Amino acid sequence: MSNPVTETAGDPAAAMPEWPMPRAEGCPFDPPPALRPLSAGKGLATIRIWDGSTPWIVTGHAEQRTLLNDPRVSVDEKLPGFPHWHEGMAAGVDHRPRSVFNSDAPEHTHYRRIMTSPFTFKRVEALRPVIQRITDDLIDKMLAGPQPADIVEALALPLPTYMISEILGVPQEDHAFIHRSASEGIRRNATPEQAMGVFRALNDYLLGLIEKKTAEPADDVLSDIAVRVKAGDITLAEAAMMGIGLLSAGHETSANMIGLATVALLENPDQLAILRDTEDPKVVAGAVEELLRYLGIIHGGQRRIAKEDIEIGGEVIRAGEGIIIELFSANRDENVFPEPDVLDLHRDNARHHNAFGFGIHQCIGQQLARVELQVVYGTLFRRVPTLRLAKPVDEIEFKHDRLAYGVYALPVNW
Ligand code: HEM
Repeated sequence: MSNPVTETAGDPAAAMPEWPMPRAEGCPFDPPPALRPLSAGKGLATIRIWDGSTPWIVTGHAEQRTLLNDPRVSVDEKLPGFPHWHEGMAAGVDHRPRSVFNSDAPEHTHYRRIMTSPFTFKRVEALRPVIQRITDDLIDKMLAGPQPADIVEALALPLPTYMISEILGVPQEDHAFIHRSASEGIRRNATPEQAMGVFRALNDYLLGLIEKKTAEPADDVLSDIAVRVKAGDITLAEAAMMGIGLLSAGHETSANMIGLATVALLENPDQLAILRDTEDPKVVAGAVEELLRYLGIIHGGQRRIAKEDIEIGGEVIRAGEGIIIELFSANRDENVFPEPDVLDLHRDNARHHNAFGFGIHQCIGQQLARVELQVVYGTLFRRVPTLRLAKPVDEIEFKHDRLAYGVYALPVNW
Protein backbone atom coordinates (compact mmCIF):
# COMPACT_ATOMS: atom_id res chain seq x y z
CA MET A 1 0.00 0.00 0.00
CA SER A 2 1.34 3.46 -0.76
CA ASN A 3 2.48 5.73 2.05
CA PRO A 4 1.97 9.38 1.13
CA VAL A 5 4.17 10.61 4.00
CA THR A 6 7.32 8.69 3.06
CA GLU A 7 6.66 9.05 -0.68
CA THR A 8 6.48 12.84 -0.52
CA ALA A 9 9.09 13.40 2.21
CA GLY A 10 11.91 14.38 -0.17
CA ASP A 11 9.74 16.37 -2.53
CA PRO A 12 8.00 19.45 -1.09
CA ALA A 13 6.08 19.97 -4.35
CA ALA A 14 4.41 16.58 -4.03
CA ALA A 15 3.07 17.53 -0.59
CA MET A 16 1.45 20.70 -1.84
CA PRO A 17 -2.31 20.87 -2.42
CA GLU A 18 -3.28 20.06 -5.97
CA TRP A 19 -5.11 22.55 -8.21
CA PRO A 20 -7.84 22.50 -9.46
CA MET A 21 -9.62 21.46 -6.28
CA PRO A 22 -13.14 20.01 -6.16
CA ARG A 23 -16.09 22.10 -5.03
CA ALA A 24 -17.90 20.74 -1.98
CA GLU A 25 -20.59 18.14 -2.52
CA GLY A 26 -24.00 19.88 -2.45
CA CYS A 27 -22.52 23.41 -2.81
CA PRO A 28 -22.43 23.96 -6.57
CA PHE A 29 -22.18 27.75 -6.27
CA ASP A 30 -19.28 28.05 -3.81
CA PRO A 31 -15.50 27.95 -4.40
CA PRO A 32 -13.59 24.82 -3.29
CA PRO A 33 -13.64 24.84 0.53
CA ALA A 34 -9.97 23.82 0.83
CA LEU A 35 -8.77 26.96 -0.95
CA ARG A 36 -9.89 29.57 1.57
CA PRO A 37 -7.82 28.42 4.60
CA LEU A 38 -4.80 27.92 2.36
CA SER A 39 -4.50 31.56 1.38
CA ALA A 40 -6.15 33.13 4.45
CA GLY A 41 -4.64 36.40 5.63
CA LYS A 42 -2.25 36.75 2.69
CA GLY A 43 -4.50 36.42 -0.33
CA LEU A 44 -2.08 34.01 -1.99
CA ALA A 45 -0.51 30.56 -1.56
CA THR A 46 1.37 27.96 -3.59
CA ILE A 47 -0.27 24.92 -5.14
CA ARG A 48 0.71 22.08 -7.46
CA ILE A 49 -0.69 21.73 -10.98
CA TRP A 50 -0.91 18.95 -13.59
CA ASP A 51 2.76 19.16 -14.71
CA GLY A 52 4.10 19.01 -11.13
CA SER A 53 5.04 22.70 -11.08
CA THR A 54 4.08 24.84 -8.07
CA PRO A 55 2.80 28.25 -9.13
CA TRP A 56 1.24 30.84 -6.84
CA ILE A 57 -2.53 30.99 -6.58
CA VAL A 58 -3.87 34.45 -5.82
CA THR A 59 -7.29 34.61 -4.17
CA GLY A 60 -7.42 38.03 -2.44
CA HIS A 61 -9.38 40.78 -4.17
CA ALA A 62 -6.77 43.52 -3.54
CA GLU A 63 -3.80 41.24 -4.36
CA GLN A 64 -5.43 40.26 -7.66
CA ARG A 65 -6.04 43.85 -8.72
CA THR A 66 -2.46 44.82 -7.79
CA LEU A 67 -0.97 41.98 -9.83
CA LEU A 68 -3.33 42.35 -12.80
CA ASN A 69 -2.24 45.99 -13.01
CA ASP A 70 1.49 45.25 -12.70
CA PRO A 71 3.49 45.31 -15.97
CA ARG A 72 5.96 42.82 -14.41
CA VAL A 73 3.16 40.24 -14.60
CA SER A 74 2.96 38.70 -18.07
CA VAL A 75 0.56 36.56 -20.10
CA ASP A 76 3.38 35.37 -22.37
CA GLU A 77 2.65 31.64 -22.49
CA LYS A 78 5.98 30.95 -24.20
CA LEU A 79 8.03 31.91 -21.12
CA PRO A 80 9.45 28.87 -19.28
CA GLY A 81 7.53 28.31 -16.06
CA PHE A 82 4.20 29.55 -17.47
CA PRO A 83 1.43 27.66 -15.63
CA HIS A 84 -0.56 26.20 -18.54
CA TRP A 85 -4.14 25.07 -17.97
CA HIS A 86 -3.45 21.54 -19.16
CA GLU A 87 -1.15 19.46 -21.32
CA GLY A 88 -3.12 20.30 -24.47
CA MET A 89 -2.61 24.05 -23.98
CA ALA A 90 1.10 23.59 -23.27
CA ALA A 91 1.56 21.47 -26.40
CA GLY A 92 -0.10 24.09 -28.62
CA VAL A 93 2.08 27.03 -27.56
CA ASP A 94 4.10 27.24 -30.78
CA HIS A 95 1.02 26.93 -32.97
CA ARG A 96 -0.96 29.82 -31.45
CA PRO A 97 -0.17 33.18 -33.02
CA ARG A 98 0.13 36.28 -30.85
CA SER A 99 -3.20 37.76 -29.74
CA VAL A 100 -4.69 39.77 -26.88
CA PHE A 101 -4.71 36.58 -24.84
CA ASN A 102 -0.97 35.90 -24.88
CA SER A 103 0.76 39.27 -25.44
CA ASP A 104 1.77 42.10 -23.10
CA ALA A 105 1.73 45.84 -23.78
CA PRO A 106 2.59 47.44 -26.19
CA GLU A 107 1.91 44.46 -28.55
CA HIS A 108 -1.33 43.76 -26.66
CA THR A 109 -2.52 47.36 -27.15
CA HIS A 110 -2.12 46.96 -30.92
CA TYR A 111 -4.33 43.84 -31.08
CA ARG A 112 -6.84 45.14 -28.55
CA ARG A 113 -7.46 48.40 -30.43
CA ILE A 114 -8.48 46.43 -33.51
CA MET A 115 -11.03 44.41 -31.50
CA THR A 116 -12.72 46.81 -29.08
CA SER A 117 -14.79 49.25 -31.16
CA PRO A 118 -17.85 46.99 -31.76
CA PHE A 119 -18.11 46.31 -28.01
CA THR A 120 -18.22 49.85 -26.61
CA PHE A 121 -21.08 50.85 -24.31
CA LYS A 122 -22.78 52.90 -27.04
CA ARG A 123 -22.53 50.26 -29.79
CA VAL A 124 -23.83 47.54 -27.49
CA GLU A 125 -26.70 49.66 -26.11
CA ALA A 126 -27.83 50.14 -29.73
CA LEU A 127 -28.18 46.33 -29.92
CA ARG A 128 -30.47 46.14 -26.86
CA PRO A 129 -33.71 46.06 -28.93
CA VAL A 130 -32.34 43.18 -31.03
CA ILE A 131 -31.29 41.28 -27.90
CA GLN A 132 -34.79 41.86 -26.44
CA ARG A 133 -36.48 40.65 -29.64
CA ILE A 134 -34.39 37.47 -29.87
CA THR A 135 -34.93 36.76 -26.16
CA ASP A 136 -38.71 37.16 -26.53
CA ASP A 137 -38.77 34.97 -29.65
CA LEU A 138 -36.76 32.22 -27.94
CA ILE A 139 -39.02 32.32 -24.86
CA ASP A 140 -42.16 32.22 -27.11
CA LYS A 141 -40.74 29.18 -28.87
CA MET A 142 -39.92 27.46 -25.60
CA LEU A 143 -43.41 28.13 -24.19
CA ALA A 144 -45.04 26.77 -27.36
CA GLY A 145 -43.02 23.53 -27.12
CA PRO A 146 -43.25 20.46 -24.86
CA GLN A 147 -42.37 20.35 -21.15
CA PRO A 148 -39.88 19.95 -19.66
CA ALA A 149 -37.73 22.18 -21.86
CA ASP A 150 -33.97 22.46 -21.61
CA ILE A 151 -33.33 26.13 -20.94
CA VAL A 152 -29.69 25.83 -22.05
CA GLU A 153 -30.75 24.69 -25.50
CA ALA A 154 -33.85 26.88 -25.67
CA LEU A 155 -32.37 30.20 -24.52
CA ALA A 156 -28.98 30.27 -22.76
CA LEU A 157 -26.92 29.08 -25.73
CA PRO A 158 -28.79 30.38 -28.79
CA LEU A 159 -28.99 34.02 -27.64
CA PRO A 160 -25.26 34.75 -27.10
CA THR A 161 -24.30 32.54 -30.06
CA TYR A 162 -26.67 34.47 -32.32
CA MET A 163 -25.44 37.85 -31.06
CA ILE A 164 -21.70 37.23 -31.34
CA SER A 165 -22.15 35.53 -34.73
CA GLU A 166 -24.19 38.47 -36.05
CA ILE A 167 -21.60 40.97 -34.80
CA LEU A 168 -18.72 39.02 -36.33
CA GLY A 169 -20.52 38.04 -39.54
CA VAL A 170 -20.53 34.27 -39.01
CA PRO A 171 -23.29 32.51 -41.02
CA GLN A 172 -26.10 31.15 -38.84
CA GLU A 173 -25.83 27.68 -40.40
CA ASP A 174 -22.34 27.31 -38.87
CA HIS A 175 -23.50 27.87 -35.27
CA ALA A 176 -23.61 24.20 -34.33
CA PHE A 177 -20.03 23.68 -35.52
CA ILE A 178 -18.84 26.83 -33.70
CA HIS A 179 -20.49 25.80 -30.49
CA ARG A 180 -19.20 22.21 -30.60
CA SER A 181 -15.64 23.37 -31.29
CA ALA A 182 -15.57 26.18 -28.72
CA SER A 183 -17.03 23.92 -26.05
CA GLU A 184 -14.48 21.17 -26.73
CA GLY A 185 -11.74 23.81 -26.62
CA ILE A 186 -12.37 24.55 -22.94
CA ARG A 187 -12.21 21.00 -21.63
CA ARG A 188 -9.99 20.95 -18.57
CA ASN A 189 -8.53 17.55 -19.34
CA ALA A 190 -8.05 17.86 -23.12
CA THR A 191 -5.15 15.81 -24.50
CA PRO A 192 -2.65 17.56 -26.81
CA GLU A 193 -4.25 15.79 -29.81
CA GLN A 194 -7.77 16.88 -28.86
CA ALA A 195 -6.72 20.47 -28.14
CA MET A 196 -4.79 20.74 -31.41
CA GLY A 197 -7.64 19.15 -33.38
CA VAL A 198 -10.13 21.70 -32.06
CA PHE A 199 -7.74 24.59 -32.66
CA ARG A 200 -7.03 23.49 -36.26
CA ALA A 201 -10.71 23.06 -37.10
CA LEU A 202 -11.62 26.53 -35.80
CA ASN A 203 -8.51 28.09 -37.30
CA ASP A 204 -9.16 26.64 -40.78
CA TYR A 205 -12.78 27.78 -40.56
CA LEU A 206 -11.81 31.36 -39.59
CA LEU A 207 -9.03 31.57 -42.20
CA GLY A 208 -11.54 30.63 -44.90
CA LEU A 209 -14.17 33.02 -43.64
CA ILE A 210 -11.79 35.99 -43.41
CA GLU A 211 -10.56 35.33 -46.95
CA LYS A 212 -14.19 35.31 -48.08
CA LYS A 213 -14.80 38.63 -46.29
CA THR A 214 -11.75 40.10 -48.03
CA ALA A 215 -13.31 39.28 -51.39
CA GLU A 216 -16.89 40.19 -50.42
CA PRO A 217 -16.84 42.61 -47.44
CA ALA A 218 -20.01 43.08 -45.37
CA ASP A 219 -20.94 45.33 -42.45
CA ASP A 220 -19.43 43.10 -39.74
CA VAL A 221 -16.36 42.73 -37.54
CA LEU A 222 -14.64 40.00 -39.55
CA SER A 223 -14.84 42.24 -42.64
CA ASP A 224 -13.23 45.07 -40.62
CA ILE A 225 -10.52 42.66 -39.48
CA ALA A 226 -10.01 41.54 -43.11
CA VAL A 227 -9.36 45.18 -44.04
CA ARG A 228 -6.63 45.34 -41.37
CA VAL A 229 -5.03 42.22 -42.87
CA LYS A 230 -5.07 43.78 -46.33
CA ALA A 231 -3.51 46.96 -44.90
CA GLY A 232 -0.68 44.88 -43.36
CA ASP A 233 -1.60 45.79 -39.74
CA ILE A 234 -1.97 42.12 -38.78
CA THR A 235 -1.30 38.76 -40.43
CA LEU A 236 -4.06 36.45 -41.60
CA ALA A 237 -3.11 33.99 -38.82
CA GLU A 238 -3.45 36.75 -36.19
CA ALA A 239 -6.80 37.75 -37.68
CA ALA A 240 -8.08 34.16 -37.45
CA MET A 241 -6.92 34.04 -33.81
CA MET A 242 -8.94 37.20 -33.09
CA GLY A 243 -12.00 35.56 -34.61
CA ILE A 244 -11.48 32.36 -32.56
CA GLY A 245 -11.03 34.39 -29.38
CA LEU A 246 -14.15 36.49 -29.88
CA LEU A 247 -16.30 33.53 -30.90
CA SER A 248 -15.19 31.31 -28.04
CA ALA A 249 -15.16 33.98 -25.34
CA GLY A 250 -18.37 35.48 -26.68
CA HIS A 251 -20.91 32.72 -26.29
CA GLU A 252 -19.97 30.03 -23.72
CA THR A 253 -19.50 32.67 -21.02
CA SER A 254 -22.88 34.42 -21.26
CA ALA A 255 -24.58 31.06 -21.88
CA ASN A 256 -23.15 29.67 -18.64
CA MET A 257 -24.23 32.79 -16.77
CA ILE A 258 -27.82 32.34 -18.01
CA GLY A 259 -28.00 28.62 -17.16
CA LEU A 260 -26.28 28.84 -13.79
CA ALA A 261 -28.15 31.96 -12.68
CA THR A 262 -31.45 30.26 -13.46
CA VAL A 263 -30.56 27.38 -11.09
CA ALA A 264 -29.27 29.77 -8.39
CA LEU A 265 -32.39 31.94 -8.55
CA LEU A 266 -34.81 29.01 -8.56
CA GLU A 267 -32.97 27.76 -5.45
CA ASN A 268 -33.26 31.25 -3.85
CA PRO A 269 -36.94 32.16 -4.46
CA ASP A 270 -36.77 35.35 -2.34
CA GLN A 271 -34.04 36.65 -4.65
CA LEU A 272 -35.87 35.51 -7.77
CA ALA A 273 -38.92 37.47 -6.57
CA ILE A 274 -36.86 40.68 -6.72
CA LEU A 275 -36.32 40.21 -10.46
CA ARG A 276 -39.83 38.91 -11.13
CA ASP A 277 -41.48 41.89 -9.40
CA THR A 278 -39.42 44.79 -10.74
CA GLU A 279 -39.59 46.95 -13.83
CA ASP A 280 -36.67 49.08 -12.68
CA PRO A 281 -33.67 48.63 -15.00
CA LYS A 282 -31.35 49.70 -12.15
CA VAL A 283 -32.53 46.80 -9.99
CA VAL A 284 -32.00 44.38 -12.89
CA ALA A 285 -28.53 45.82 -13.61
CA GLY A 286 -27.60 45.44 -9.92
CA ALA A 287 -28.84 41.84 -9.96
CA VAL A 288 -26.63 41.07 -12.96
CA GLU A 289 -23.54 42.38 -11.10
CA GLU A 290 -24.37 40.33 -8.01
CA LEU A 291 -24.89 37.18 -10.07
CA LEU A 292 -21.59 37.79 -11.87
CA ARG A 293 -19.95 38.09 -8.44
CA TYR A 294 -21.70 35.15 -6.85
CA LEU A 295 -21.58 32.56 -9.63
CA GLY A 296 -17.92 32.55 -10.61
CA ILE A 297 -18.25 31.00 -14.04
CA ILE A 298 -14.53 31.66 -14.73
CA HIS A 299 -13.25 29.26 -12.11
CA GLY A 300 -9.95 27.68 -13.12
CA GLY A 301 -7.76 30.74 -12.56
CA GLN A 302 -6.29 33.14 -15.12
CA ARG A 303 -2.70 32.25 -16.03
CA ARG A 304 0.27 34.61 -15.67
CA ILE A 305 4.03 34.57 -15.05
CA ALA A 306 6.30 36.99 -13.12
CA LYS A 307 8.95 38.68 -15.27
CA GLU A 308 10.71 40.17 -12.21
CA ASP A 309 10.62 39.59 -8.44
CA ILE A 310 7.40 41.02 -6.97
CA GLU A 311 6.71 41.59 -3.26
CA ILE A 312 3.08 41.06 -2.32
CA GLY A 313 1.10 39.88 0.74
CA GLY A 314 4.32 39.45 2.73
CA GLU A 315 5.68 37.04 0.11
CA VAL A 316 8.04 37.39 -2.85
CA ILE A 317 6.94 36.01 -6.21
CA ARG A 318 10.24 35.31 -7.96
CA ALA A 319 10.92 36.08 -11.64
CA GLY A 320 9.95 33.03 -13.71
CA GLU A 321 7.35 31.76 -11.22
CA GLY A 322 3.83 31.02 -12.43
CA ILE A 323 0.82 32.91 -11.10
CA ILE A 324 -2.81 31.74 -11.16
CA ILE A 325 -5.36 34.49 -10.55
CA GLU A 326 -8.45 32.75 -9.17
CA LEU A 327 -11.03 35.47 -9.91
CA PHE A 328 -13.93 33.59 -8.34
CA SER A 329 -12.29 33.57 -4.88
CA ALA A 330 -11.77 37.36 -4.98
CA ASN A 331 -15.50 37.73 -5.54
CA ARG A 332 -16.03 35.92 -2.22
CA ASP A 333 -13.38 37.97 -0.34
CA GLU A 334 -14.99 39.04 2.95
CA ASN A 335 -12.71 42.09 3.15
CA VAL A 336 -14.69 43.54 0.25
CA PHE A 337 -18.06 41.77 0.31
CA PRO A 338 -19.73 41.28 3.73
CA GLU A 339 -21.28 37.79 4.02
CA PRO A 340 -19.70 36.91 0.68
CA ASP A 341 -21.39 33.52 0.30
CA VAL A 342 -24.88 35.03 0.43
CA LEU A 343 -26.63 35.84 -2.85
CA ASP A 344 -28.02 39.34 -2.28
CA LEU A 345 -29.36 41.04 -5.41
CA HIS A 346 -29.54 44.35 -3.51
CA ARG A 347 -25.83 44.26 -2.50
CA ASP A 348 -24.59 47.80 -3.01
CA ASN A 349 -20.96 47.09 -3.99
CA ALA A 350 -21.49 43.98 -6.14
CA ARG A 351 -20.05 45.84 -9.14
CA HIS A 352 -16.59 45.72 -7.52
CA HIS A 353 -16.33 42.05 -8.50
CA ASN A 354 -13.42 40.76 -10.53
CA ALA A 355 -15.62 38.56 -12.75
CA PHE A 356 -14.47 40.36 -15.90
CA GLY A 357 -10.85 40.52 -14.71
CA PHE A 358 -8.99 43.77 -14.11
CA GLY A 359 -6.30 45.82 -15.80
CA ILE A 360 -5.34 45.74 -19.46
CA HIS A 361 -6.81 42.29 -20.17
CA GLN A 362 -10.18 43.11 -18.65
CA CYS A 363 -13.00 41.56 -20.69
CA ILE A 364 -13.59 43.18 -24.09
CA GLY A 365 -17.15 41.84 -24.27
CA GLN A 366 -18.36 42.89 -20.81
CA GLN A 367 -20.92 45.43 -22.07
CA LEU A 368 -22.37 42.89 -24.46
CA ALA A 369 -22.52 40.27 -21.70
CA ARG A 370 -24.13 42.77 -19.30
CA VAL A 371 -26.88 43.75 -21.76
CA GLU A 372 -27.57 40.11 -22.70
CA LEU A 373 -27.90 39.18 -19.02
CA GLN A 374 -29.96 42.25 -18.13
CA VAL A 375 -32.41 41.44 -20.91
CA VAL A 376 -32.65 37.73 -20.08
CA TYR A 377 -32.92 38.07 -16.28
CA GLY A 378 -35.31 41.03 -16.69
CA THR A 379 -37.56 39.08 -19.07
CA LEU A 380 -37.52 35.36 -18.26
CA PHE A 381 -38.80 35.42 -14.66
CA ARG A 382 -41.43 38.09 -15.39
CA ARG A 383 -42.75 36.29 -18.46
CA VAL A 384 -42.61 32.81 -16.88
CA PRO A 385 -43.35 33.37 -13.17
CA THR A 386 -44.12 29.68 -12.62
CA LEU A 387 -40.73 28.51 -13.93
CA ARG A 388 -39.34 25.60 -11.88
CA LEU A 389 -36.67 22.92 -12.08
CA ALA A 390 -37.89 19.67 -13.64
CA LYS A 391 -35.48 17.64 -11.48
CA PRO A 392 -33.78 18.10 -8.10
CA VAL A 393 -30.72 20.32 -8.10
CA ASP A 394 -28.44 17.43 -7.02
CA GLU A 395 -29.32 15.61 -10.27
CA ILE A 396 -28.22 18.53 -12.46
CA GLU A 397 -24.89 18.04 -14.19
CA PHE A 398 -22.54 20.95 -13.52
CA LYS A 399 -19.51 21.68 -15.72
CA HIS A 400 -16.80 20.72 -13.23
CA ASP A 401 -14.58 19.60 -16.12
CA ARG A 402 -14.74 22.84 -18.13
CA LEU A 403 -12.68 26.01 -17.81
CA ALA A 404 -15.97 27.93 -17.72
CA TYR A 405 -18.43 26.67 -15.09
CA GLY A 406 -22.12 26.22 -15.79
CA VAL A 407 -24.72 23.52 -16.39
CA TYR A 408 -24.76 21.15 -19.36
CA ALA A 409 -28.54 21.07 -19.48
CA LEU A 410 -31.32 22.52 -17.35
CA PRO A 411 -34.76 20.91 -17.71
CA VAL A 412 -37.53 23.23 -16.54
CA ASN A 413 -41.32 23.20 -16.28
CA TRP A 414 -43.74 26.13 -15.89
C1 HEM B 1 -20.52 36.79 -18.59
C2 HEM B 1 -19.76 36.77 -19.62
C3 HEM B 1 -18.26 36.95 -19.61
C4 HEM B 1 -17.36 36.77 -18.59
C5 HEM B 1 -17.63 36.37 -17.16
C6 HEM B 1 -16.05 37.07 -19.14
C7 HEM B 1 -14.87 37.03 -18.41
C8 HEM B 1 -13.64 37.47 -18.89
C9 HEM B 1 -12.44 37.58 -18.10
C10 HEM B 1 -12.34 37.21 -16.64
C11 HEM B 1 -11.46 38.05 -18.88
C12 HEM B 1 -10.03 38.41 -18.48
C13 HEM B 1 -9.07 37.29 -18.71
C14 HEM B 1 -7.68 37.56 -18.14
O1 HEM B 1 -7.40 38.61 -17.60
O2 HEM B 1 -6.87 36.62 -18.24
C15 HEM B 1 -12.01 38.20 -20.22
C16 HEM B 1 -11.31 38.62 -21.31
C17 HEM B 1 -11.83 38.66 -22.59
N1 HEM B 1 -13.16 38.50 -22.93
FE1 HEM B 1 -14.68 38.06 -21.69
N2 HEM B 1 -16.19 37.40 -20.46
C18 HEM B 1 -17.52 37.35 -20.79
C19 HEM B 1 -18.08 37.63 -22.02
C20 HEM B 1 -17.37 37.97 -23.14
C21 HEM B 1 -17.97 38.26 -24.42
C22 HEM B 1 -19.46 38.30 -24.72
C23 HEM B 1 -16.93 38.49 -25.28
C24 HEM B 1 -17.05 38.80 -26.75
C25 HEM B 1 -16.92 39.93 -27.26
C26 HEM B 1 -15.69 38.38 -24.54
C27 HEM B 1 -14.43 38.57 -25.05
C28 HEM B 1 -13.26 38.62 -24.29
C29 HEM B 1 -11.94 38.87 -24.86
C30 HEM B 1 -11.60 39.04 -26.33
C31 HEM B 1 -11.03 38.89 -23.77
C32 HEM B 1 -9.51 39.09 -23.83
C33 HEM B 1 -9.15 40.52 -23.49
C34 HEM B 1 -7.66 40.78 -23.37
O3 HEM B 1 -6.89 39.87 -23.10
O4 HEM B 1 -7.28 41.95 -23.58
N3 HEM B 1 -15.99 38.06 -23.24
N4 HEM B 1 -13.37 37.87 -20.19
